Amino acid sequence: MTASVEPRGEVRALGSADADRYCNHLMRLDTPSRKMRFFEDVSEFHVLFHAGAALSDGRVVVGYVEDDEVRGACELLEVDRENHLAEAAFSVESEWRCQGIGGRLMAAMIEQARRLGVRRIEMSCLKSNLPMQALAARFTDDLRQVGETALAVLENHDEPHPA
Ligand SMILES: CC(C)(COP(=O)(O)OP(=O)(O)OC[C@H]1O[C@@H](n2cnc3c(N)ncnc32)[C@H](O)[C@@H]1OP(=O)(O)O)[C@@H](O)C(=O)NCCC(=O)NCCS
Repeated sequence: MTASVEPRGEVRALGSADADRYCNHLMRLDTPSRKMRFFEDVSEFHVLFHAGAALSDGRVVVGYVEDDEVRGACELLEVDRENHLAEAAFSVESEWRCQGIGGRLMAAMIEQARRLGVRRIEMSCLKSNLPMQALAARFTDDLRQVGETALAVLENHDEPHPA
């Protein structure tokens, strides 16, 4: 986190009423960011479809909202409810990065995970994605290299995490 000015927006849960805002946010990601976020080159149709689905399929989406626009988001998807396992994925628009917004989204996501009884959160990114690994390293020491992927594992205990 490098900026000295605190971002003035709010972090809040996004719902179906935010579908356009969330879609616009994902569409503003540039090509490399979209690839980092979705692990592949995805079409605009895929992004449009994803935004609508994510806000209606029961997953948790927390957003960083400034001037009524979503500028960053984190999705928490329960992938194995029986074993209390979920996966998280992040996106922050280029001009909003390195101001701690990723950290604020992570802290909010962890709170939501705790509320849902999620005990283990996994975050995957490409091995070359150093910002995501730096962000994850503020919250967990468990960072693994799996081929071309880096995996961060966060065991969700009761202590609050600093953003
Ligand atoms: C990963 C991402 C969400 C981080 O968001 P952010 O708002 O910039 O996060 P923060 O400001 O809280 O922290 C960013 C960290 O990255 C570090 N960082 C930034 N650029 C870096 C680089 N080139 N090399 C190493 N670290 C870097 C910052 O120094 C900071 O770490 P620090 O606190 O240890 O100094 C954002 O870069 C992003 O949206 N990337 C594209 C999508 C993506 O990669 N998603 C992750 C996979 S799902």
